[in-house]
Amino acid sequence: MSEIYRKLEVCLKSVRAKTDFKPEVALILGSGLGDYADEIQIEQTIDYTEIEGFPTSTVAGHKGRFVFGYVNEVPVVIMQGRVHYYEGYPMSDVVLPTRLMGMMGAKKLILTNAAGGSNFDYKPGDFMLITDHITTGVPSPLIGANLDELGPRFPDMSEVYSVRMREIIKKVAKEMQIRLQEGVYVQLTGPNYETPAEIRMCRSWGADAVGMSTACEAMAARHMGMEVCGISCITNLAAGMSSEQLDHKEVQETADRVASQFKALITGIISSI
Ligand code: HPA
Repeated sequence: MSEIYRKLEVCLKSVRAKTDFKPEVALILGSGLGDYADEIQIEQTIDYTEIEGFPTSTVAGHKGRFVFGYVNEVPVVIMQGRVHYYEGYPMSDVVLPTRLMGMMGAKKLILTNAAGGSNFDYKPGDFMLITDHITTGVPSPLIGANLDELGPRFPDMSEVYSVRMREIIKKVAKEMQIRLQEGVYVQLTGPNYETPAEIRMCRSWGADAVGMSTACEAMAARHMGMEVCGISCITNLAAGMSSEQLDHKEVQETADRVASQFKALITGIISSI
């Protein structure tokens, strides 16, 4: 058994010592969405620091805990605060929480994030349904001995973001009269924002949005057979696309401005998928 799987088993045991809650849906909350977890019917919370071997998040504004509860009777586990590659963790630690939620029983994963729009048709405050991703800029979370217990050595990635879920999400957004862009997300390492030249490169690759998370989690989840969907909140136009300099405050402000709409959409999605 690999070290990584052994660590997952230690973490699972630590969680199972505190709760036997069986989630159906796992949700990872991005910037600005953190307090969504406070608004659901909470059954139990577990701080990351209470879980043996768990990588604990260091980013200001990111709480670090699992929230277990119900959204319209659907049992969910929510990551309030994710682990980012730029914090210095190995990629296997970055995706450990995703795998752990899968091992807790979650069959479906909803990923959310804040992202810079590299598509000129996008405006800050738009939501983008992720149709596909590019992870050339970060190491694959599947590098190293394969976790045979979870999935195959060479997993297919031709439909990372479930077509079934995407169709439902588009219907939900339409019913709620929420405008939903669709596009390709590129994950880069961060923590610096990109240069204008990097954004031009991403656009020529076919990228519509750029961020520092999500795609690695989606890959780890697909590896273990979870059904995955993702939504980006476009918080800013990417570097070089406006006269503004980029800063975290702007990202946070836009995310906060549209948070109530984003949260309503997430509730609608959880209830329908
Ligand atoms: N680039 C990368 N990550 C981001 C951005 C961006 O412009 N905005 C929010 N997260």
